[in-house]
Amino acid sequence: MSDLSDELTKAIRTIPDYPKAGVQFRDITTLLGDAGAFRRTVDALVQPYAGRSIGKIAGIEARGFILGGAVAHQLSAGFVPIRKKGKLPHETVRVAYSLEYGIDEMEIHRDAVAEGEEIILVDDLIATGGTAEAAVKLLRQMGAKIVSACFVIDLPDLGGRARLEALNVPVNTLLAFE
Ligand code: PRP
Ligand code: ADE
Repeated sequence: MSDLSDELTKAIRTIPDYPKAGVQFRDITTLLGDAGAFRRTVDALVQPYAGRSIGKIAGIEARGFILGGAVAHQLSAGFVPIRKKGKLPHETVRVAYSLEYGIDEMEIHRDAVAEGEEIILVDDLIATGGTAEAAVKLLRQMGAKIVSACFVIDLPDLGGRARLEALNVPVNTLLAFE
């Protein structure tokens, strides 16, 4: 494990049995509240794309908004919110999905992405990959070219990375909880 992964792993709090029995919830609020850890997280997320022209960052509600906004700023890219259903005011495209502890629906504005636009998907964590896969479907439906998907945390036992890679989406993560 690198020094950075080690530092960030220690900055993340684990809550047992939240929101359901058996789930070890990886809480990034402690990392976000640590100025140095937050900065180094964002720096590490953007590092593979330094100097590259990226059209937009797509962030997944809610934790993907915090990280995705910072990544967009640092790459001088636009930001597209992918939101839980019923929150976006204009015409949307919607998809249902399941995640480690439930099911939900997400939406994106129909005009949020241009055909062929290069997008990086950002979220805090990939577990089953159900959420990220749904976001990839929405973005591709609108003609986006997904450059990669970035997460702070990978839960490899739940198979999300492999699921995205099977869709030809390169995945970058900073640390893993086995
Ligand atoms: C969490 C996390 C990811 C998703 C990952 O979000 O931020 O978006 O779960 O799970 P998966 O890989 O099994 O799909 P959550 O739906 O809890 O929403 P929140 O960010 O609003 O708390
Ligand atoms: N989203 C899905 N699984 C999660 C977990 N174990 N901790 C935090 N967010 C999650």
